[in-house]
Amino acid sequence: MISQELNDTITRVGPGTAAGEVLRRYWQPAALVDELAGERPVVPVTLLGERLVLFRDNDGNLGLIGRHCPHRGADLCFGRREDNGLRCPFHGWHFDRNGQCVEQPGEPEGSEMYKQIKTVSYPVEERNGIVFAYMGPGEPPSFPNFDCFRAPDTHVFAFKGLWQCNWLQALEVGIDPAHASFLHRFLEDEDPKDSYGKQFRDSAGETNIPMTQLLRDYPRPEIRVEETDFGMKLTALRHMENGMTHVRVTNQIFPEAICIPMSREMTITQWHVPIDDENCYWYSMFTSFAKPVNKDLMREQRLKEHTLPDYAPLKNKSNNYNFDPAEQATQTYTGMGLDINVHDQWAVESMGTIQDRTQEHLGKTDVGIIKFRRMLREAIRNLADAEETALPMRNGVDVSRIFGPLSNDAITDTADWEAASQRADAERRAACPWDATV
Ligand code: FES
Ligand SMILES: [Fe+2]
Repeated sequence: MISQELNDTITRVGPGTAAGEVLRRYWQPAALVDELAGERPVVPVTLLGERLVLFRDNDGNLGLIGRHCPHRGADLCFGRREDNGLRCPFHGWHFDRNGQCVEQPGEPEGSEMYKQIKTVSYPVEERNGIVFAYMGPGEPPSFPNFDCFRAPDTHVFAFKGLWQCNWLQALEVGIDPAHASFLHRFLEDEDPKDSYGKQFRDSAGETNIPMTQLLRDYPRPEIRVEETDFGMKLTALRHMENGMTHVRVTNQIFPEAICIPMSREMTITQWHVPIDDENCYWYSMFTSFAKPVNKDLMREQRLKEHTLPDYAPLKNKSNNYNFDPAEQATQTYTGMGLDINVHDQWAVESMGTIQDRTQEHLGKTDVGIIKFRRMLREAIRNLADAEETALPMRNGVDVSRIFGPLSNDAITDTADWEAASQRADAERRAACPWDATV
């Protein structure tokens, strides 16, 4: 349970808010590169409560500028994409990708007023299918050498989806290893051979035990958390009969991403990016350590569940997530189908748009959430004291030396779990077709 004041402090993200200022010190996913693929690469972007427009100019360079024209506020998403910039259809003011006004065709001949007019603009960079934006002060930080950024484009698939809730509760489901035994429980197991592109449907470690069975049979994980250069490492140990242990390593990447195993072949790096205080997008980079990703199949699987252009899930609050009591009785724990994304979406949206944390009761298995909130509060305090250099990955650590993070499943002798988890990771990296050495 926390106070209302603290709940506001750690959830609100608009300009000038405490948590919003922390998030602004890091690159934020702003759009999928897929969204710019059409004839007219101009996309509305609302990020951290700010209304923006992302576009590709005639030279192929990206710009992210304020959505409302600084003249009288018309929507630049309808701008004319011409003369290597965006031209407002209202009075023809023309902006380049840095937000500089370069022409005001209706103002008197010889007027140089345009030189004084510059709208908001933020640096952007494309990385393996996602356009990232930096909305903080000063120079943007370098990208760490995470697997999702190092892998070649052929081995990474990016997608996103809309959740109608605050970003923090969305993130908190990702640092809660206990819920997988319940929320994602399947009462029957599928053949893991049909698991491509799906979470929790592979077999566990190097065994033939379906992950679904393992999670169901061992619902009381021992959870360990440790602070790292990038955020936090979470280890969930499910001690089995016969002296064996299932080890699942996941990570929190500060401030609002997680990195988790999806299957033996792939990991998921997922950001929970605030659109505003009451909506967020998850952005995922699925990274393969083996074959190139079958992007067509993975895109098709996910487009079937979402509508464009908002990437809004077809199953949502308005249709009760297609809740089916018969399915809940016989097949799944939730009665909401086999897509675990929908389960997570229900869990976090059903809390209310901003979870009322004055009413919660955290247990022992919520240790990751407790630790993360401490880290976020510490970052907020440090920024308030102008100690920006105390923030994770902005504290002088050489981020090009931050690799991984290790995220995998292994089944091992209980006594050997730590080494076995590292061995499984090292083997995967050694066999990887791209340079995944750490
Ligand atoms: S409102 Fe954009 S040019 Fe006038
Ligand atoms: Fe989940």
